[in-house]
Amino acid sequence: MSRKKITVVGAGHVGAHTALWIALKELGDVVLLDIVEGVPQGKSLDLMEASPIEGFDSLVVGTNDYKATANSDVVIITAGIPRKPGMSRSDLIATNVGILKNVVEGVVKHSPNAHLLIVTNPLDVMVYAAWKHSGLAPKKIMGLSGALDGGRLRAFIAMELGVSMEDVHAMVIGGHADEMVPLKRYSTVSGIPITQLLPPEKIDAIMGRTKKAGGEIVALLKTGSAYCAPSAAIAEMCEAIIRDKKRVIPCAAYCDGQYGVKGMFIGVPVVIGAGGAERIIEIELDAGEKKAFEDSVKAVKGLIDELKF
Ligand code: APR
Repeated sequence: MSRKKITVVGAGHVGAHTALWIALKELGDVVLLDIVEGVPQGKSLDLMEASPIEGFDSLVVGTNDYKATANSDVVIITAGIPRKPGMSRSDLIATNVGILKNVVEGVVKHSPNAHLLIVTNPLDVMVYAAWKHSGLAPKKIMGLSGALDGGRLRAFIAMELGVSMEDVHAMVIGGHADEMVPLKRYSTVSGIPITQLLPPEKIDAIMGRTKKAGGEIVALLKTGSAYCAPSAAIAEMCEAIIRDKKRVIPCAAYCDGQYGVKGMFIGVPVVIGAGGAERIIEIELDAGEKKAFEDSVKAVKGLIDELKF
């Protein structure tokens, strides 16, 4: 069986770490592409030199030319500028939409059958832009939101309770912005709802911290944004496609009427497998959760409307 091919566009913090997780998991061979000459080549060589130490056989090559990405199975797009302290994800919009258009055209020309996984922010708008510029079926395009936001929420719950990360599950839906919707009713420790394990004020504090978790890291780093958890989370989504795992992961997926949303991408629970976003699972939301989700959809739609696709 021939190996799968995964391209990562953008060899910055998120891109280089994504290549590392993918190589460690041996999901396939990796092509790392960036606009800056030398950087993807240097980071790829560095990864190859780690391979005998960690014992992985994925080949990692760096390039500035889309020809080298031809026939990729999955393309992960991280190219763009990250946030600086005080910036919201939507402040990145004009620059990153321009970059994304250019990247998607290069990618699709050489890999017309690839799945696209988008990381660049503001996330939900970028996924929409990728769909518009690629002409791909919406099932083949997803964006990183709930896998990361849910990961952060899981970490906060596990840290608070002093229990294993493995046993904590949590669900965050909506846009990948401060209006995201962490769902306490769908957050559990080995099946036990967290509402039975933590007092309401603690839960509220954890939910609030989750919404601003990206900004917390931006403020600490002072230059650039988070990259360990984002890269691990997008590699998890890539693995679900490559190994056809049918994982249930909340992410930005195309809604065609589900949750009352039509014709746009927003964070919802999705069955991810070889077919991409194979199925959206509609969970029951109470009035408060529904209102928060609708507000989040409105915020994303406002940004999309401004761009006039
Ligand atoms: N084509 C290819 N690569 C590009 C292009 C382009 N047109 N424009 C920029 N890049 C590359 C940059 O050269 C840089 O190497 O994208 C990379 C971005 O890396 P970083 O600046 O380190 O940013 P990073 O932290 O990886 O974040 C990237 O992911 O989480 C989001 O908000 C974040 O939108 C940001 C993206």
